Amino acid sequence: MSKNTSPRDSDTMTHFDFLKKFKRFNPLEPSLGIVGFVLVTVLFIGCFFYLDYPTVARSGWYPQPSWLGLIGPLSSPSLGEHERQGFLDEGGEGCNAFDGNWVWDENYPLYQSTDCPFLDQGFRCLENGRPDSFFTKWRWQPKHCNLPRFNATNMLEKLRNRRLVFVGDSIGRNQWESLLCLLASAVTNKSSIYEVNGEPITKHRGSLAFMFKDYNCTVEYYRAPFLVVQGRPPKGAPKVVKLTLKVDQLDWSRIHWRDADVLIFNTGHWWNFEKTIRAGCYFEEGAKVNMEMSVETAFRRSIETLIGWIGSQVNMNKTQVFFRTYAPVHFRNGGWNSGGSCHLEKLPDLRLLPASPGNHFDILANVLLKHSNESQVMNMNLLNVTDMTSSRKDGHASVYYLGPETGPAPIHRQDCSHWCLPGVPDSWNELLYALYLKWETSHVQNSKEGSQAHP
Ligand SMILES: *[C@@H]1O[C@H](CO)[C@@H](O)[C@H](O)[C@H]1NC(C)=O
Ligand SMILES: *[C@@H]1O[C@H](CO)[C@@H](O)[C@H](O)[C@H]1NC(C)=O
Ligand SMILES: *[C@@H]1O[C@H](CO)[C@@H](O)[C@H](O)[C@H]1NC(C)=O
Ligand SMILES: *[C@@H]1O[C@H](CO)[C@@H](O)[C@H](O)[C@H]1NC(C)=O
Ligand SMILES: *[C@@H]1O[C@H](CO)[C@@H](O)[C@H](O)[C@H]1NC(C)=O
Ligand SMILES: *[C@@H]1O[C@H](CO)[C@@H](O)[C@H](O)[C@H]1NC(C)=O
Repeated sequence: MSKNTSPRDSDTMTHFDFLKKFKRFNPLEPSLGIVGFVLVTVLFIGCFFYLDYPTVARSGWYPQPSWLGLIGPLSSPSLGEHERQGFLDEGGEGCNAFDGNWVWDENYPLYQSTDCPFLDQGFRCLENGRPDSFFTKWRWQPKHCNLPRFNATNMLEKLRNRRLVFVGDSIGRNQWESLLCLLASAVTNKSSIYEVNGEPITKHRGSLAFMFKDYNCTVEYYRAPFLVVQGRPPKGAPKVVKLTLKVDQLDWSRIHWRDADVLIFNTGHWWNFEKTIRAGCYFEEGAKVNMEMSVETAFRRSIETLIGWIGSQVNMNKTQVFFRTYAPVHFRNGGWNSGGSCHLEKLPDLRLLPASPGNHFDILANVLLKHSNESQVMNMNLLNVTDMTSSRKDGHASVYYLGPETGPAPIHRQDCSHWCLPGVPDSWNELLYALYLKWETSHVQNSKEGSQAHP
């Protein structure tokens, strides 16, 4: 099923199809914006170099110069490195690792794209000609605790004989490739890491699974942008219905990932594009097309379907389930299909956020709250990246998603949804690492206690 090529199989293709259909690009508007931006950016980068950069660079591993504090909300005071507890230490449970700031760190990035054979060309921004690399230098620092430093060897040891699976849209794939690179950085023999079916990394695959041979561990990706089934309408549906989303059925690939040891879901970007959804695509429930169902209701029903399925089909004693929240896009002076841009963004946002993540974040929180007394929801981890990511307008591929031979894309065809790698998704994976270790520790303790109680 997932191999059927619908016009929607490629994010890029759809973007461009829509670009053709909805071309409302006004060349005057963005260029005014661009002039303003060049000014602001030049001024800011100037400050960066002449005032603060040397101080920042000298202050070492956990620098927190005062101006960097501006990047996060100022509501609660920042603690120094030694005042903070380690996230994995006893008593670190209370720490909200998603509440924090981006801090400049000379030890970043954690890998170079040139050393990682597992990246789509589209994410290799520096190789594709992006001239600035500041965006690779930011580390996520929670306000009230310190995250463990990512240790790929340790993660691979913990994943020995296990399967880690990402299910979701192409931003999930972005995160999956980031994790492949992070883990591969600890493996010297790169030929010991391979796709199990010998498939190359290309954009259009429904699923890919990489084996880390020395650890007998696979890191897999399944494309399911809505998480629920997208398919042909039932017999007797009105002619305008070309496709349906079956909001009460999880994607067909579910049988392949049900028994994974770590499951990381995400969805959101496709629900955003109301027009995409409306291009002949309607919602189906109980094998009936519901012509009236709103996108919000359909999204809510799909999340409920996911929660119900996890509750009945996933053994949460074995499988650790994560849900990564929406990663905001940063199109300015237009949308993804109307010349919106982000190519002049060189630094994280200095305004006080939190951003408005939009409807589906609220719907997700709401559904989780409603089901919060169910064990699968209590045991599920939220990778609550929405706020931290909203200030990273500097991290997108923008015009640097084509190969070095092709050069930058036209200004009006920017990618301000996906992320350059190394970059922002690495930080999501550092949080995944921290939460996974935490679960792993408590799980091992629990099962020890369990086996002591019942010898
Ligand atoms: C996600 O994190 C933000 C920032 O810490 C917080 O304000 C928000 O309540 C969190 N949302 C959920 C659903 O946990
Ligand atoms: C990383 O983890 C491995 C395996 O747990 C350990 O042997 C090694 O010392 C760790 N490295 C660092 C720098 O902490
Ligand atoms: C490799 O891991 C799988 C589980 O993912 C397990 O079923 C299999 O027995 C392992 N193979 C070896 C040789 O340990
Ligand atoms: C690297 O891994 C491949 C595949 O497992 C293996 O055939 C090869 O011998 C390894 N090379 C070295 C130098 O260990
Ligand atoms: C999971 O663990 C709990 C407590 O140890 C146990 O009661 C339950 O039966 C286990 N569930 C499965 C599906 O193994
Ligand atoms: C959760 O709460 C709802 C009502 O608040 C109740 O109907 C449902 O049975 C509860 N579920 C569990 C698993 O306790």
